[in-house]
Amino acid sequence: GFYSKKPSKSLINLDIQKEDAKVVHSFDVEDIGEKAAFCRCWRSKKFPYCDGAHGAHNKETGDNIGPVCIQRKKN
Ligand code: FES
Repeated sequence: GFYSKKPSKSLINLDIQKEDAKVVHSFDVEDIGEKAAFCRCWRSKKFPYCDGAHGAHNKETGDNIGPVCIQRKKN
C-alpha cells in the first residue's frame, strides 16, 4: 500500500513547486559568482540554495545530508 515500511518509498520533496511535474533549476556557470551552496535536503526556504535547514532535518531524523558547494578555484 501507500504506507510502505521501506524508507525508499517516501517522498523527498514535501512542498517545493508541487504544481510542476518535475523541479529543475539551471544556472549558467558564469552567473554563479565566487561560490554557491545548493540544497540537497529539499527543506530550504531559499531552494535551490541551502539556507541551513538540513541541520534541523538531520537532528530530527538522524540523517546526515548537506548541500553541494560550488566554488571558483583559488589560484
Ligand atoms: Fe537543504 Fe542545506 S538547507 S542542504
